[in-house]
Amino acid sequence: MHLKLAFIGFGNVAREFARILDHDRISLEADRALTWRVTAIATAAHGCVLSSRGIDLLEAVGVVSSGRQLTEIDGATSVASTAELIEQCDADVLFETTPLNPNDGQPAIDYIRSALSRRINVITANKGPIACKYRELRDLAKRFNVGFRFEGTVMDGTPVFNLVETCLPGTRVFGFEAILNSTTNLILTLMEDGRPFDESLSEAQLRGIAEANPDYDIDGWDAVMKAKALANVLMDAERRGTRVECEGIRGIDAGELKAARDAGFSIRVVARAVDGPESVMISVRPERVKLDSLFATIRGTSNVLVLKTDLMGEIAIVEQDPGVRQTAYALLSDLLRM
Ligand SMILES: NC(=O)c1ccc[n+]([C@@H]2O[C@H](COP(=O)([O-])OP(=O)(O)OC[C@H]3O[C@@H](n4cnc5c(N)ncnc54)[C@H](OP(=O)(O)O)[C@@H]3O)[C@@H](O)[C@H]2O)c1
Repeated sequence: MHLKLAFIGFGNVAREFARILDHDRISLEADRALTWRVTAIATAAHGCVLSSRGIDLLEAVGVVSSGRQLTEIDGATSVASTAELIEQCDADVLFETTPLNPNDGQPAIDYIRSALSRRINVITANKGPIACKYRELRDLAKRFNVGFRFEGTVMDGTPVFNLVETCLPGTRVFGFEAILNSTTNLILTLMEDGRPFDESLSEAQLRGIAEANPDYDIDGWDAVMKAKALANVLMDAERRGTRVECEGIRGIDAGELKAARDAGFSIRVVARAVDGPESVMISVRPERVKLDSLFATIRGTSNVLVLKTDLMGEIAIVEQDPGVRQTAYALLSDLLRM
């Protein structure tokens, strides 16, 4: 099968995915009969370009990484905006990896709507659209008979949505507790080891795991959006309504971490969803967790999700030390499932 691919956003995640695609080109063709060409790339500051004959992915990675314009690429035609690029790209699959907007998930939702209604399959790593408009986008994909996948939105490439969809048919998820934000978990564990807050945040940014606006990590909104995405997909929360409480880690200093440690606890940002009688209650806040608990063992960029189910009791899944590569893998796994 030969696919035409479009990229909306060409930042840390998309560029790492581009490297994987390029590296695995021969094996994907040999093992899965999959070939592709990239016909469109849209960015905010590096231009939006189309090319019917195909854009060399590694050249595009080099151009954007060195701060140049995609229009420098031979044979690439410039278009004025991302919206226009989606209208004209004629792609089979569109990868949406623009930054999180925790207020309303825009403009990513409009990009995805536009692509799905043009019968373009969509894969996103952006949790905003799943947290804000999951049901509408899912139904739109059904209506136009195209795929819509989003495994990378929560715990990167770790199977979370795929786990429930594929391996737990007939099971009802009625709640979860989790550590979902790698940036704040890395900061808290580096601070436990004596590093200052600013230096710990810089480390997360250097690894490419922090949000474009790191306040969304620090103040808890990235974790809230992930928890809402999980609750929407696994607990039908969007239909039932959600109540959200959110607290970040700005108030936590070295003294508080030491006091917790002396009392036999670590501090972790814990996300919870509880099935209430009228709505789903979602909370994200720093909590004391016992030093010998599963959650205290989740250090650095690691994440954990404990699903509470009717027929399978509790199921825990841990993602150990992920980086951008694991999110990029989610795009590949979604592409291959599609
Ligand atoms: N990084 C991670 O570890 C990770 C993990 C899980 C999920 N995610 C999610 O994946 C998405 C991408 O993350 P990232 O780390 O790759 O972000 P990033 O490095 O900030 O890249 C974002 C890309 O989107 C482009 N962009 C911004 N607004 C745009 C618009 N209106 N139209 C077209 N392109 C636009 C930017 O253009 P410029 O290059 O010109 O600025 C940039 O290329 C985010 O939603 C994030 O929440 C990230």
